[in-house]
Amino acid sequence: MAGLGTRLLPATKSQPKEMLPVARKPIVQYVAEELVGNGARDILFVTGRGKSSIENHFDSDPELERVLAATNKQDLLNQTGVKEFAANLLYTRQAVQRGLGDAVLCGESFVGSEPFMLALGDSILGLHAQSKTITRMREVFESQHASCVFAVEEVPREETSLYGIVEPARIDGDMVGVRRLVEKPRIEEAPSNLAIAGRYIFSPAIFGLIKQVKPDKRGEIQLTEAMNMLAERGERVFCVKLPPGEKRYDIGNYASYYETFVEFALADPEYGAGLRERLKTLLK
Ligand code: G1P
Repeated sequence: MAGLGTRLLPATKSQPKEMLPVARKPIVQYVAEELVGNGARDILFVTGRGKSSIENHFDSDPELERVLAATNKQDLLNQTGVKEFAANLLYTRQAVQRGLGDAVLCGESFVGSEPFMLALGDSILGLHAQSKTITRMREVFESQHASCVFAVEEVPREETSLYGIVEPARIDGDMVGVRRLVEKPRIEEAPSNLAIAGRYIFSPAIFGLIKQVKPDKRGEIQLTEAMNMLAERGERVFCVKLPPGEKRYDIGNYASYYETFVEFALADPEYGAGLRERLKTLLK
């Protein structure tokens, strides 16, 4: 969870963008639920100054629980969803915003010698985080004896300059071998329209490579650069396309945040139908 969220000011002046609500829940809760739904049992949040509300959100709140239980609001109590979160949650802070690669390095001792999953806190995969893409990535990681597998989304050509872009080698259904990666290429230099979609599985070999990455002109250590080094060393790097109908909801800017909020709110079991009617009137 790197980045200062400057694209979402003033909403993110005193709260992290990961805590912005999308319908009923903050973004970070969807991300954590998706990880748990794909087998994660220990989650390390890499936060930073000004992001302690993330810890508060997942902490138990005996006073609130007492009030809800006493007023028979069992439903709401269950909906808060964080009372008994089905994973061990740990937290660490990135001291200086030195980019995504540096944020990943903060997890090195937590990870140890096992492969690990990485999820960016400003993206939700699939409506209500039901995505099983990470499980599919795990299958590919194991069956291909890979060092890195990540999710990709096909994006319009003119948006390729916003993402890490894949130069594909072999394509086999939803699985694509990766020859090379470029972070935020100029549109005319983008080697494909396959964009890194914020979900990754790595072998711990990635840490050594991140340490070799030179900061870019903004002083950021790019994770994509370390992944590129993996591919160049001949390690097995693959990506998996999101399944048809599955979207990545990006909360990094207002345009996509608004769209995401509306789509999730329209899917709300209690208020979705009413909102749909209200929108129809507003749009007349
Ligand atoms: C980061 C990654 C980029 C990836 C994107 C997806 O960029 O560096 O490779 O495509 O996330 O969310 P950011 O959006 O943090 O600039």
